[in-house]
Amino acid sequence: MATQRTLSIIKPDGIKKNVTGKIIAMFEEKGLRVVAAKRVQLTKAEAEGFYAVHRQRPFFGELVTFMVSGPVMLMVLEGEDAIAKNREIMGATDPAKAAAGTIRKLYASSIGENTVHGSDAPETAKFEIGWFFAENEIIS
Ligand code: CMP
Repeated sequence: MATQRTLSIIKPDGIKKNVTGKIIAMFEEKGLRVVAAKRVQLTKAEAEGFYAVHRQRPFFGELVTFMVSGPVMLMVLEGEDAIAKNREIMGATDPAKAAAGTIRKLYASSIGENTVHGSDAPETAKFEIGWFFAENEIIS
């Protein structure tokens, strides 16, 4: 499997719980490298555009409101099979279904407040990384 990049977001609940370092350590322990990072307060337009694929879903409004409720940490992770590996480290979207030892099992409180986001496919990763980072902000 080739080296890949994926977008990771530590969501407002993860920032409030002050577990940024613990989450990054979990990525690093599994061989992923943070090759770009910034802590930002998303605007409503940024959050809506990022999650545009979910615009028709009933939870869209709630999702956007939550994502702008406080700062987030945006990161590009790089490594062997990074997209799948990140999703494995995060655990299932619904923390009630997440495996033991995953980020969401450890820190998430609900499907909405689920601590982290990770790209789900190579095309999505390309779009999501480009949404938040210029190429010259990513340093392998
Ligand atoms: P994320 O991986 O960031 O991608 C879309 C997000 O929508 C998902 O995590 C959840 O936090 C959020 N969401 C809220 N409600 C639901 C729901 N009922 N089903 C799926 N995702 C939901």
